[in-house]
Amino acid sequence: MCGIFGIVTAKETALGPILVEAGRRLSYRGYDSVGCATLSPGGTIDLRKDVGKIDEVAERLRFGEMRGTRGIVQLRWATFGAPSQANAQPHLDSDGDLVGAHNGNVVNNVELRERFIAEGMTVRSTNDGETCVHAVERYVDQGYPMLEAIRRAHGDLQGDYAFVIGRVGEERLYAFKKGSGLVAGIADGAALVSSDLPSILPFTRRVLRVEDGEIVVLEPGGIELRRVEDGARVEREFEVVSETMEDAQRGGYPHFMLKEIHEQPGRARELLHLYDASPHVEAMVERMKGARNLYLVGCGTSYHACLLGATYLARLAGRPAIPVLAPQFVPQYVPALGPGDVGLFVSQSGETKDVLLALEAGVARGLEPLGLLNVIGSTLMYKTRAYLPLACGYEISVPATKTFMNQALAFLYLALKMGGHSTADLHRIPELLEETIVATDPAIFPLVDGLAGCDDLYCLGYGLTYPIALEGALKMKEVTYAHCEGMLSTEFKHGPLSAVTEGYPVIFVCGPEDVARVVSGVNEVTCRGGRAIAIGEEDPRLRANAHDLIVLPKAGPLLNPLLAVVPLQLLAYRLSVARGYDPDFPRNLSKTLTVD
Ligand code: AGP
Repeated sequence: MCGIFGIVTAKETALGPILVEAGRRLSYRGYDSVGCATLSPGGTIDLRKDVGKIDEVAERLRFGEMRGTRGIVQLRWATFGAPSQANAQPHLDSDGDLVGAHNGNVVNNVELRERFIAEGMTVRSTNDGETCVHAVERYVDQGYPMLEAIRRAHGDLQGDYAFVIGRVGEERLYAFKKGSGLVAGIADGAALVSSDLPSILPFTRRVLRVEDGEIVVLEPGGIELRRVEDGARVEREFEVVSETMEDAQRGGYPHFMLKEIHEQPGRARELLHLYDASPHVEAMVERMKGARNLYLVGCGTSYHACLLGATYLARLAGRPAIPVLAPQFVPQYVPALGPGDVGLFVSQSGETKDVLLALEAGVARGLEPLGLLNVIGSTLMYKTRAYLPLACGYEISVPATKTFMNQALAFLYLALKMGGHSTADLHRIPELLEETIVATDPAIFPLVDGLAGCDDLYCLGYGLTYPIALEGALKMKEVTYAHCEGMLSTEFKHGPLSAVTEGYPVIFVCGPEDVARVVSGVNEVTCRGGRAIAIGEEDPRLRANAHDLIVLPKAGPLLNPLLAVVPLQLLAYRLSVARGYDPDFPRNLSKTLTVD
């Protein structure tokens, strides 16, 4: 995800090295292009930006020589629109008097950009950060002072984002946020603002967390908060933070895996805003609808999302789809491909070799390739005819968590659209996910002691929760090194039941429609001395029959799988830590598998 940083100094300074250092501290988020702008007291803007990594671009464009009293650096993680010099941030307004940069997504970007072009503004990119600058320009041109222009622009820009802007002839920077994070700090001779605490920490520990509905004004001598609603001043004490640099990059969490689990409600919210506003979703639905055969192709976690997606598509849109592991796609389906067949290739990284090879083999037989991916600018993106982003930002931890959530949510969204249903109910998901984390994490702790020494267990699901059981088992294997097999609950009695002895743990992931069936499976385990752990909505039958019940918020059968995966992620994480492993970087594994 993109990151922004802005600084105002009391006297002209060599800002280039400061901006480069701040940019480096934002880089853990992942990015594909980088840019710096400085404003000098003489009234000029020096803007340099391009695609590439910060050190390489900084050297090539000589960021080090940039000077001024105000500076902005931005690292861009593309969501829509390929990474390019034009789309890199910061951006200028039409006359080059304003310069600004954002992170996050402005969901009404397309409409606003068209409006600004029609009004005669010079629009140089398709990036929504530029739209933010023109939104302010519009009111500045109507004669409003900066603060008033920003207040008005704020009302026009929809989405989750943070934005920083400066104007020639002034000594200030202004910033505000909607949804995204924004923190301001005050240091000796400098006022600072950033999407991320780590880029502020080298300067100061005295910070203000900017809230939605506030504009922060940075001046050489200090910081002022103003209310967007009426421009009135907001009084708030600075807080003195104790986080270290490393802590701050993990956002105070001990591991990226835990941080990324906790990011799921926010990322889900962003995906919904993005898809609600994006014309690309409808186009994707039309392509999938028109397919002769529709294949959903992925590996590991992404394949589990495909499995869930196939069930959603059948159930909500009456559209059969064939989920398949990428390497098996070639022997099993490629020989039978024909005109009109469509493959939706699902991958967090967009670089998984098994997925790319499957795509190439399919395309050679006339398959239309579509993508669902997290990394914009990845090989998969360029190889697909159309794609949708997962909008998760950089996933650092090797185990995929938030990207699975948004893959599952994307499939649910597409299936509802394809079936002609409303997607409004999906907006309950972010809050339900928050509730799930809060409710299930404490319920998991008592299980950890008993399970930490266990090297063998099962995780079972049925129907919509079958892919969730597979995903839970994969998480468990990946970070605890225990053998955890995921399977269809009804298959357990066809063989694996023989493994059950006194205390043998079996996890049952239970959808609200499947309680009766699951209770039978639970009893098959408990009557042989096994320990049945159920994950599902509160139900007296589960409560009475299972040893443990991890209770999910009531959400109904369609949303239940998205919630059910959360306690499994948390359990895998907690067991990994209890067993003394590093869940972020499990042995033998790599985040991106570019090998056979
Ligand atoms: C999941 O926790 C794994 N790290 C792994 O199974 C992963 O999902 C798989 O390698 C596919 O990766 P991709 O989504 O980047 O293609």
